[in-house]
Amino acid sequence: MSADAAFGYAPGKIILLGEHAVVYGQPALAATLDRGVRVAVSRLAEDAKGPVLRGAGFGIDVTGARPDPGGAGPEPLRRALAKLVELYGERVRSLSFVVEGGIPAGSGLGSSAALSVAMIRGVHRFFGETISDEAVIADAFALERVFHGTPSGVDHSVIARGGLVSFQKNVETGAVHLESVTLPRRLRFAVGLAGAHAGTAHAVGALRERAKRHPRAYQRLWDAIGELVVEARGYLESGQLGALGELMDLNQGYLNALGVSTPAIEALCSIARDRGALGAKLTGAGGGGAMIALVDDDPAPVVRAFQAAGYGAFAAEIRAASSANDADEDPSARNDSLPTHDTAIAVESTP
Ligand code: MEV
Repeated sequence: MSADAAFGYAPGKIILLGEHAVVYGQPALAATLDRGVRVAVSRLAEDAKGPVLRGAGFGIDVTGARPDPGGAGPEPLRRALAKLVELYGERVRSLSFVVEGGIPAGSGLGSSAALSVAMIRGVHRFFGETISDEAVIADAFALERVFHGTPSGVDHSVIARGGLVSFQKNVETGAVHLESVTLPRRLRFAVGLAGAHAGTAHAVGALRERAKRHPRAYQRLWDAIGELVVEARGYLESGQLGALGELMDLNQGYLNALGVSTPAIEALCSIARDRGALGAKLTGAGGGGAMIALVDDDPAPVVRAFQAAGYGAFAAEIRAASSANDADEDPSARNDSLPTHDTAIAVESTP
């Protein structure tokens, strides 16, 4: 039986180590943030053909996206809504989605994957149906391909699973190994925002072209990043954050070599290290977007230093023994309010 209204929530994500190399079969470590995207699902007026998606405070115009070709709203979002109808049937056309996001726009913090997972959860709650994590991951991948072309799948997998995960995809078979990693102590970060990025599909595509010109050199970089990730997992599990931070700095050096860092990201990394951060690197696709600085204690001084230099910033943490069970829990709902910080979310387009 369907409800009058239902909510779907999904958190944003950070990649601790291994972005880009993960597209080429290397492992990556990723974790969910304590902020995300909430979708309210209700029924449209009888004659309104949907699904219709609206969102307040978006970095893009989402006053009423519908799946119709050439209709209102950004194209990737319209195609994603059409994909929802394809996945769950014509009944989805009777639905309205109102979205509120706590993830900054165009930041590579997983806003499109969070939106996908939140919509999938919202549709199932609305129709009073359960859906397994595996099915959420499979269906969210179909939506992520609409947003990002050929993603590795790390974003929506960690967002659907929750907590800290190790993700690896066999590029020949497509088989994914997704494993939750248990933390002995919480991780605290300052997250800095280095401006809007050109989109994950764009960054991955441009890098693929560069890699094609120098395949052996790039293969060595993928392998080196993969080795860092394996080593970093050991430090994470034993709580050796100093050593973990050093590997994050090394990973940032490789990402710079891959051409996905920017002067703003490098400036933020320097500010963080000067303020005593254990390590700093970009997170996600780069070319702008977000960076993370791992701190030993209170992230506030690093957050303030980012802001004093003119960058958006916030503190984030990954809880100890963080596990799958917080994946669909909206932290803001615990306080009976939605996040009051930046409410923009971005839907990146596939060029
Ligand atoms: C984006 O969050 C992570 C990338 O590795 C792309 C992907 O894995 O699909 C850059």
